[in-house]
Amino acid sequence: MNESRNKITELFNIKYPIIQAGMIWHSGWRLASAASNCGGLGLIGSASMYPDILRENIQKCKKATDKPFGVNVALLYPNLDEIIQIILEEGVKIVFTSAGNPKTYTKILQKEGIKVAHVVSSTKFAVKCEDAGVDAIVAEGFEAGGHNGRDETTTFCLIPNVKKHISKPLIAAGGIALGSQMKAAMILGADGVQIGSRFAATIEASAHEIWKKKITELNEGDTHLTLKELAPVRMVKNKFFNELEGIYNVGRNTEALMASLGRARAKKGMFEGDMEEGELEIGQVSALIDEVLPVKTVFENLLKEFNEATNPSL
Ligand SMILES: Cc1cc2nc3c(=O)[nH]c(=O)nc-3n(C[C@H](O)[C@H](O)[C@H](O)COP(=O)(O)O)c2cc1C
Repeated sequence: MNESRNKITELFNIKYPIIQAGMIWHSGWRLASAASNCGGLGLIGSASMYPDILRENIQKCKKATDKPFGVNVALLYPNLDEIIQIILEEGVKIVFTSAGNPKTYTKILQKEGIKVAHVVSSTKFAVKCEDAGVDAIVAEGFEAGGHNGRDETTTFCLIPNVKKHISKPLIAAGGIALGSQMKAAMILGADGVQIGSRFAATIEASAHEIWKKKITELNEGDTHLTLKELAPVRMVKNKFFNELEGIYNVGRNTEALMASLGRARAKKGMFEGDMEEGELEIGQVSALIDEVLPVKTVFENLLKEFNEATNPSL
């Protein structure tokens, strides 16, 4: 991949159309600034941060990079108005919203000169994003780690369909960890990619070392999209997952499920390293991740693999 400009590099003023996803318990200032320093767009994941911790992360990120970076705001978590206020006060220039209505904050942020991208898992919601006036759309297939759509639409099917119905810059997410996968997504119509799982297993990610190592040991079939009617989320099939599925299968008891879920279980798993009692969010592509690497090496590999992937001809 060369440094040629495209819709995404122009929009965010970055070198490569590679977005490091905002991820709870992983994407602090270290990961975000490292990704931005490599020429991609680093995102701080605000969803696992109390407002004062977010402010601290933004300030540290500003010191660690002079390149553009952004903040991911998952709209299903609390303290949203406070988080938006901090983003405005700290002069953040790029926000990726997800898991909610793109109309809620897009105009408020854009009025302050902030570029807004919104994450969706279906063509229907991509069209709603366009109506809401976002600057870019992230279309995330059901392979992806973390919260996801109900429809089980894969990245391979989602991207060409979204492309057909929207004209805004399009970012593909879900199942991308290799340069060849990035190239495939761009051949399908994406202008750039958002990568989560691959960056979760990096030195700079703030998750627990036991969890990062576990990611490198996962095989095909080790993750599953559960809680489809409630809040679909892809996670590792461990003891906690089995408990959750147990409650879910007995009458969809929402209260009991909400009591078992919540931020505490995700923290316990990914941040504190409890591989059985904690919630472990990761994508199907973890089966292709064999090593915890520095962010710089991830970028080098992506670019090399992208350039080496052949353009097939018939
Ligand atoms: C551990 C983990 C945490 C995540 N947390 C968030 C989050 O806080 N907000 C969000 O919008 N997406 C979140 N995601 C989804 C990512 O932003 C991204 O879209 C997804 O990981 C892309 O798919 P991939 O994992 O196959 O690369 C998370 C994903 C993972 C793996």
